[in-house]
Amino acid sequence: MNLSATAIAHPNIALAKYWGKTAFGYNLPAVPSLSVTLAGMATRTTVSFDESLAADQLVLNGEPSAGETLARVSGLLDRVRARAGKHGLRARVDSKNDFPTASGLASSASAFAALAVAAARAAELELDAAALSDLARRTSVSAARSVLGGFVTLRAGVEGDEVLPAEQLAPPAHWDVAIVVAVTREGPKDVGSSEGMKHTMKTSPYTGAWVERAPALFERVRAGVLAKDLAAIGPAVEQSALMMHAAAIAADPGILYFSGATVEAIAAVRRMRKDGLEGYLTIDAGPHVKVLTRGSDAERVAETMRSVPGVLRTIVARPGPGAHVEP
Ligand code: PMV
Repeated sequence: MNLSATAIAHPNIALAKYWGKTAFGYNLPAVPSLSVTLAGMATRTTVSFDESLAADQLVLNGEPSAGETLARVSGLLDRVRARAGKHGLRARVDSKNDFPTASGLASSASAFAALAVAAARAAELELDAAALSDLARRTSVSAARSVLGGFVTLRAGVEGDEVLPAEQLAPPAHWDVAIVVAVTREGPKDVGSSEGMKHTMKTSPYTGAWVERAPALFERVRAGVLAKDLAAIGPAVEQSALMMHAAAIAADPGILYFSGATVEAIAAVRRMRKDGLEGYLTIDAGPHVKVLTRGSDAERVAETMRSVPGVLRTIVARPGPGAHVEP
């Protein structure tokens, strides 16, 4: 009996941001989000259930890992074990990213998407994409979106939700866009997203405004992606990110993910647009700035961003596939 499987998943960048959870249900987002799953960078994860193991084991990028990260991995494995009726069976998990964790590309999204797909297959569960996405969502909301490829939506949780999977809005080939990541720091981690959003929801006076306004921004982004209209979605993409950060900055104490280079990069994107090169920014729980642009403009946008003081390097990423088992 070979209870082992390997899966590949890619990171995603949200064009309409998720920030905050609802009080109802388990790990349900308070606002709807829309993301692009990216090609090029990948997490590759192998899960092997093994009768001889007394506890789950995790190796991350070649290094044994324990503590909170292992606890999150075991939490997902517990759900798979419960579903497969394999309660006592522990697993060895080996996970590698082929992109640097400090690149500003959420590694938890691709990590938990790959883990969900590999663990389900290793346990011989036949789960469809929706069930796999829901499984990943219970550990990391953004991971639910990396299970699907291309342009992906995840609605907000509502009372009574038992399952909440992400859905594909359009496949990768639907729209030739690129995300240019302006990397502004290689250094230490910021306030993690889970912690940051919890603190924002609890203490920011702007939480109400964020939760109230986010759905309309999501709708604008959704309609614009379907219509492949960059000029229509751009302002909504920027407002979604800046409103999320404004809510975090207004928390008590405030959470500021920006560095000086982040602010320089924001100004550069606006200047670039005035000069006729179209691109719109988004920023996650870190100081890097990501620019959504046409596929054909990506290299020129990357060149522009590399000239910004404090930008160390750029990564050009395009829409890519969902998570899948490695044959
Ligand atoms: O699910 P998490 O903990 O990776 O949170 C993701 C939060 C943002 O990246 C800032 C926004 C998003 O929708 O991906």
